[in-house]
Amino acid sequence: NEIGVTCVAFSGGQPKEGVDLGPEYVLKANLVEQLQDMNYNVVLTGGKVQHYKEFFPESDEPVGIIKRPRTVGIVNKILADQVYEHIKEGRLALQIGGDHSMAIGTISGVARGIKERFQQDIKVIWVDAHADINTPETTETGNIHGMPVSFLMGLVKGKFEGLDWIEPCLKPENLVYIGLRDVDKLEKQILKENKIKSFSMHEIDRYGIGQVLDMTIEHLSKGDRGESPIHVSFDIDALDPSVAGSTGTPVRGGLTFREGHYLLEALHSTGRLVALDMVELNPAIGDHCEDTIAIGCSLIRATFGESLL
Ligand code: ARG
Ligand code: MN
Ligand code: MN
Ligand code: MN
Repeated sequence: NEIGVTCVAFSGGQPKEGVDLGPEYVLKANLVEQLQDMNYNVVLTGGKVQHYKEFFPESDEPVGIIKRPRTVGIVNKILADQVYEHIKEGRLALQIGGDHSMAIGTISGVARGIKERFQQDIKVIWVDAHADINTPETTETGNIHGMPVSFLMGLVKGKFEGLDWIEPCLKPENLVYIGLRDVDKLEKQILKENKIKSFSMHEIDRYGIGQVLDMTIEHLSKGDRGESPIHVSFDIDALDPSVAGSTGTPVRGGLTFREGHYLLEALHSTGRLVALDMVELNPAIGDHCEDTIAIGCSLIRATFGESLL
């Protein structure tokens, strides 16, 4: 069994420094060795952390209030090809970030590979405090890490400079959110209009993470025999800041340590996981960044089948 690991040292989708250091810290915490101990063969994209600096445009003036669209665009285009390559080779794909704008590339690449190999559409579970579904019209911040889903879903009108290569590859019915608690007003409208299945913290309180996960899988099994491939995009800020505080946009009232792990353990046991993004780890924020990094590593191990017994 092989895992293609891509270390995305990128911060251009948001303004805070340090999120590009996430992958370096995760590697220093011996993630590769841990996966090898679980009997995985690890293939590291490019043999090292990827910075993509050689692809950055010389200048990247804002378009309206949208910040660094050409930089985010080109990095994700390269990233999509890298991730596609792993899927094509039959590997599981693990992407460590980096800010969440990178999901534009990771999901585009996985979707392309899965379509080619299995003639199936990718299904996505987005675990996050935020919905990241703003469009360039609805965003209040101009930060593209708050918009990847709208680009992947084709909700962005016309072609957007730098991001015009993106092919919509995610249907609204193939996405489920878990952990939401800071959704912008216009984002709520987009979720409703597109009837996107969403489990906020309220539903987790009501039903418990176990049932929420069962309902998630049930939703993503409509129209197939319960075997279509799943990509999990896990924003570390889904967890409560008291558990994982080293992240750029913390929101209180999040998932516990066990809820986060249960979710990924249960997804592993479905046998349907083909890809995981672990994003928004920012070692420059908070006093005990080792804790957040260690939790990122253990969430990754849970996803790839580390068992408690
Ligand atoms: N909704 C806010 C925005 O559009 C926050 C997004 C936070 N996203 C994230 N990937 N942490 O900027
Ligand atoms: Mn978030
Ligand atoms: Mn907000
Ligand atoms: Mn996010």
